[in-house]
Amino acid sequence: TGYVTLDPGFVNTASTVSAITYIDGDAGILRYRGYPIEELADKSSFLEVAYLLIYGELPTAAQLADFTEKIKNHTMLHEDFKNFFAGFPRDAHPMAVLASAVSALSTFYQDSLDPFDPEQVDISSIRLISKLPTIAAYAYKTSIGQPLLYPDNSLGYVENFLRMSFGVPTTPYEVDPEIVKVLDMLFVLHADHEQNCSTSTVRLVGSSHANLFSSISAGVNALWGPLHGGANQAVLEMLERIHAEGGDVDAFVERVKNKEPGLKLMGFGHRVYRNYDPRAAVVKKATTKVLDRLGKADPLLDIAMRLEEVALADDYFVERKLYPNVDFYTGVIYKALGFPTNAFTVLFALGRLPGWIAQWREMMSDPTTKIGRPRQVYTGPTERHYVPIEER
Ligand code: CMC
Repeated sequence: TGYVTLDPGFVNTASTVSAITYIDGDAGILRYRGYPIEELADKSSFLEVAYLLIYGELPTAAQLADFTEKIKNHTMLHEDFKNFFAGFPRDAHPMAVLASAVSALSTFYQDSLDPFDPEQVDISSIRLISKLPTIAAYAYKTSIGQPLLYPDNSLGYVENFLRMSFGVPTTPYEVDPEIVKVLDMLFVLHADHEQNCSTSTVRLVGSSHANLFSSISAGVNALWGPLHGGANQAVLEMLERIHAEGGDVDAFVERVKNKEPGLKLMGFGHRVYRNYDPRAAVVKKATTKVLDRLGKADPLLDIAMRLEEVALADDYFVERKLYPNVDFYTGVIYKALGFPTNAFTVLFALGRLPGWIAQWREMMSDPTTKIGRPRQVYTGPTERHYVPIEER
């Protein structure tokens, strides 16, 4: 206890051992349980990856069918839960609604909050994966004044989410399967990223033996910030601003380099990657595909591509090894799919959920886990003595 090391931002401090996700930031490598992210993005699916992250191995066909069935059985929200959405202002940020709703789930499932009972942990994990899309869709539907749709369990996980978000009771909902595949793939890309800010938050909260819902709710709040998951919203707002101001990308990059207060190239840079974020490379390809598929052109994509080109050729970004991260291109896709800008980080949360769950479970099942309790270096006054108020 006499000796502490100071490491603001945990730049060099490992908080845990983990067998879930491997990143080599210099080489731009990301693997879940050993599988390269590019392979999983191309060949796997979100629920399969969720299983892989949580249980450690790719499922057999029977295991995946069983897992999928369980998820389907829990997609509805308790009828009383629906009142919850109407209780917020219509213009509430959906990340605030999501974090509150996840926290509120613990009030409906008080029989499954014991973090050390494997069955309770398992059913809570299933409930979270099942219900998060319903919560996200209901937050959006409430914000635009449309009726809430019940989940349709004949549909796949992502298609059901898209229908609850964009469908209406009066018309059958149809969506291009290729578009469903792209959103599923984006969820795969977001599913885990080892000890990032929100995951570390989930672990820290869980280390006090708080239940899974409380821990994940804290993670959602951590993700909201613009330096983390909130960057996807911030990127789109940046692209819109550049567009509205005439599209002068070089001038914008100059202002960033001059460190104009509050100005950063959002969607660029990463604590761990000092190379192209492998997720960004996959998203970039998907962006063009989605816009082609939907027959939509978006001047914001041209601005993004030009920004990347200018930044990657500029000494400021080269010297600091700043490359596009996962958030740089996703917003253009989410916008094309019809999501409002403030819902983008919710989509990140839907994707990251299995990672949070897997990391929380890994921690809780490790007998060597201790409560997370960082030390500090005190810089305040040395001892002094109370002065009565009339003498101050
Ligand atoms: N635009 C301009 N300059 C930057 C940027 C940027 N996006 N990112 C880092 N820098 C500069 C920074 O100013 C510093 O310069 P100097 O050495 O002159 O002081 C240098 O690069 C090192 O940056 P840092 O802030 O010490 O790096 P960090 O590891 O503490 O921060 C980061 C990482 C992701 C918070 C940061 O790069 C950033 O703010 N990026 C923009 C927000 C963003 O896109 N976040 C999403 C991250 S990926 C997905 C996720 O985790 O959610």
